[in-house]
Amino acid sequence: MTAQPSDSALYALPKAELHLHIEGTLEPELAFELAARNGVSLPYDSVEQLAEQYEFSDLQSFLDLYYATMDVLRTEDDFAELTRRYLRTASEQGVRHAELFFDPQAHVERGIPIEAVVDGISGAIAEGERDLGISGGLILCFLRDQPVESADAILSAALTRPDRLLGVGLDSAEVGYPPELFRDVFARARDAGLHAVAHAGEEGPPAYIVQALDVLGVERIDHGIRAIEDPALLDRLAEEAVPLTVCPLSNVRLRTVPELAAHPLHRLEEAGVLVTINSDDPAYFGGYIGENYTAVRDALGLTADQAERYARTSIHASFASTARKAELQQAVDAWRG
Ligand code: HPA
Ligand code: ZN
Repeated sequence: MTAQPSDSALYALPKAELHLHIEGTLEPELAFELAARNGVSLPYDSVEQLAEQYEFSDLQSFLDLYYATMDVLRTEDDFAELTRRYLRTASEQGVRHAELFFDPQAHVERGIPIEAVVDGISGAIAEGERDLGISGGLILCFLRDQPVESADAILSAALTRPDRLLGVGLDSAEVGYPPELFRDVFARARDAGLHAVAHAGEEGPPAYIVQALDVLGVERIDHGIRAIEDPALLDRLAEEAVPLTVCPLSNVRLRTVPELAAHPLHRLEEAGVLVTINSDDPAYFGGYIGENYTAVRDALGLTADQAERYARTSIHASFASTARKAELQQAVDAWRG
């Protein structure tokens, strides 16, 4: 059997992170620090007790804790600190380009000004570019389980500073909230020159993936693993070169797959689909992007060639400039040696 790459080789592999919710990088330790700083009381006695809650039965059970815990994020500096810590860890795990999702509706409805959120995160991204050499940007996600009017309002607020955004996405509870509800708001975002992506086929049916492509005009599908159930859709994704941002540890923790050994990651790739490996909400799901690569290696097998292919696909599927993509592909050449 071909020797599989070590942890350190997989961490060092230059890669892009394309599916990462910045609020999902809130580690229990930082949650307690921010709670103390902001005078917010968390309904847990200790870091350990909060960490013990990280046992989920499905997407909704995670979202309940995710939205409750983000209440500790109050100031521009909180958002900056959260992002700084994520980028430091990401850098240690080979991330050279990161496109970060954020959920502004969940903050604005708590009375936090969108400027504090956007300025905090994008300030830290600029620092990360300077100090760590990580390029990237911000993707504003609409909460699909909130009224469309709320998505419309947050887009209008965000479009006062369109230069701060790379694109828009769609997240939160999927089943019962089909992409077509967001047709007009995505059209407006695309008209404003923003990229478009959407979570689809995580818990929802393959038909939601089709809708995200046909109705929202998205360029990538986040998760998309339920495409494995629909051979015609797999052919289409392969033919149209639509990348999937797959998050293996997330899928196990939210029980969209029974165990990692049963994950369709490699099967999706073997069907000709552009597949990438990402971390989703690493503080909650047991690991950052490097741990996703090593867990895949341990459960499904991952040769150096396969790892290299996933990393190259992540760079190719990113919204980085052509010049930046070429630079990052050269960094992968150097990794191969
Ligand atoms: N799925 C949907 N919405 C989310 C997720 C996810 O994995 N993480 C944060 N919001
Ligand atoms: Zn996600």
